[in-house]
Amino acid sequence: MSDKSKQSNRQKGDPETTGHSWDGIEEFNNPLPRWWLWTFYACIIWGVLYTIAYPAWPLLKEATPGILGFSTRGEVAADIAAVEAANADIEARLAAADLTAISDDPALSSYATNAGAAVFRTWCAQCHGSGAAGAKGYPNLLDDDWLWGGSIEDIHTTISHGIRNETDLDARWSQMPAFGEILAPEEITSVVQYVRSISGQDHDAGLAGQGQQVFMDNCAACHGDDGTGDRFQGAPNLTDAIWLYGGDVETLTATVTNARFGVMPSWADRLSAAEIAAVASYVHQLGGGE
Ligand code: HEC
Ligand code: HEC
Repeated sequence: MSDKSKQSNRQKGDPETTGHSWDGIEEFNNPLPRWWLWTFYACIIWGVLYTIAYPAWPLLKEATPGILGFSTRGEVAADIAAVEAANADIEARLAAADLTAISDDPALSSYATNAGAAVFRTWCAQCHGSGAAGAKGYPNLLDDDWLWGGSIEDIHTTISHGIRNETDLDARWSQMPAFGEILAPEEITSVVQYVRSISGQDHDAGLAGQGQQVFMDNCAACHGDDGTGDRFQGAPNLTDAIWLYGGDVETLTATVTNARFGVMPSWADRLSAAEIAAVASYVHQLGGGE
């Protein structure tokens, strides 16, 4: 290094330097401003206190809990409790309400419809579809075609106890026999053509004529002489264009040969009385309610 590079440019009154010098550029050794330093210390103290007061340090299973006992989970639980407390009155009214009177009480009926829609999305949509339009084997709840009845009481009973399940002694029950073991194949072929004829679809008139007798002997007891069904047994109307499983020859033949036995769980043990009343009102007001 040359002599020149060691020359200091310090002037009188300048602070001390750190002693470092790069090509004659030197670094002043200014103390940190007091206000900055104290803010810095205060932040450290605040940070330590915070980790003592609130959940902070991760341990093996969970974080240190903090002496204030705060948790976001606890906050959510408190929020839920607050909403439940706020709804307790109307829930109690709903649970005790006469089902047919719910629609006359605007506040109760709008609460029931909203709460029922939420119950439906959680518990029913996986089978009946989020819009309640159903799917093969799962009835559409929007139309006025009911297997077991569309009054609010009927709907309430169906939901409370379910259909053909093993868990609820009051479940709606009926069983169409598997006619593959009862009828000859020709009889099944002809009765299927008869069902096609009464539902207004293309059919073989000769076979349908033979099938009529088979129907009267084997099917009318449940589906009715005219084929319009029987709600007491949940036997579908076979004369309309609405099919639970399907009205084409192949599906009809499979239904008659093997039977179906659609099962719906019971909800009386899983949902509260208010929730069942709510979801029954919701389904009832969807469009097909009677
Ligand atoms: C595991 C599937 C499943 C779930 C979940 C389910 N259902 Fe069902 N539901 C069915 C089946 C299958 C039927 C038709 C059974 C039959 O063939 O009679 C049915 C029938 C019904 C009926 C009778 C329709 C009629 O035409 O009479 C109503 C009402 C109903 N369900 C409402 C509900 C409600 C409300 C929920 C939710 C609380 C629900 N279901 C949950 C499978 C289900
Ligand atoms: C013991 C009563 C009973 C008898 C007898 C009976 N059914 Fe049924 N049938 C039902 C029930 C209940 C259902 C509803 C489906 C289920 O079991 O899930 C049904 C469903 C059907 C379906 C399905 C309809 C659809 O919408 O997809 C067809 C088709 C049908 N039956 C035809 C017949 C024919 C044809 C006979 C006579 C050979 C017959 N049934 C005899 C009770 C009966």
